[in-house]
Amino acid sequence: MHSFGYRLNGLLTFAVTILALMCAITSLSDNFNTPSPSAEIKIMNINWFQKQPQGHDEVSLTMNVSADLQSLFTWNTKQVFIFVAAEYETRKNSLNQVSLWDAIIPAKEHAKFWIHTSNKYRFVDQGNNLRGKKFNLTLHWHVMPKTGKMFADKIVLTGYSLPEEYR
Ligand SMILES: *[C@@H]1O[C@H](CO)[C@@H](O)[C@H](O)[C@H]1NC(C)=O
Ligand SMILES: *[C@@H]1O[C@H](CO)[C@@H](O)[C@H](O)[C@H]1NC(C)=O
Repeated sequence: MHSFGYRLNGLLTFAVTILALMCAITSLSDNFNTPSPSAEIKIMNINWFQKQPQGHDEVSLTMNVSADLQSLFTWNTKQVFIFVAAEYETRKNSLNQVSLWDAIIPAKEHAKFWIHTSNKYRFVDQGNNLRGKKFNLTLHWHVMPKTGKMFADKIVLTGYSLPEEYR
């Protein structure tokens, strides 16, 4: 004769199995969604551009970041973390990556936006390599799902350059 507790245990095991299966299907179905995000970043102004007393170049700029990241959102998306980075080469490093701005997009309704902002984090070089420097701006995203693996990708925007002279 099965006790009540034994049956409850069996039921729970069954429920947990179904739940695990549903989670697996959910994250699997996410893989079939091919997102097509778009982004554009315009540099509106170089606010100032200086060599700091310690010898590091630093620039302050204002950008207009516009993006449509709605396609990153599925019913399994918890939130999306995004950041804009300046990427450039110097003789010392083949890749310098400086994060300039970031945000958390909590829902699909907020995933199509533009923002006029100056850099939230300092754009400082490790040396004094920024005059006339060509650089890329990249919009990176990390999609945090409700269940399953996080995934990350980026859009690379090319063809930016800094002024030849400090100002
Ligand atoms: C920023 O860019 C978006 C998209 O190109 C545009 O609609 C918006 O007017 C721009 N904002 C400013 C302040 O230039
Ligand atoms: C900018 O991105 C392009 C395309 O990914 C790449 O070929 C180039 O080396 C990058 N430029 C810099 C300065 O990082």
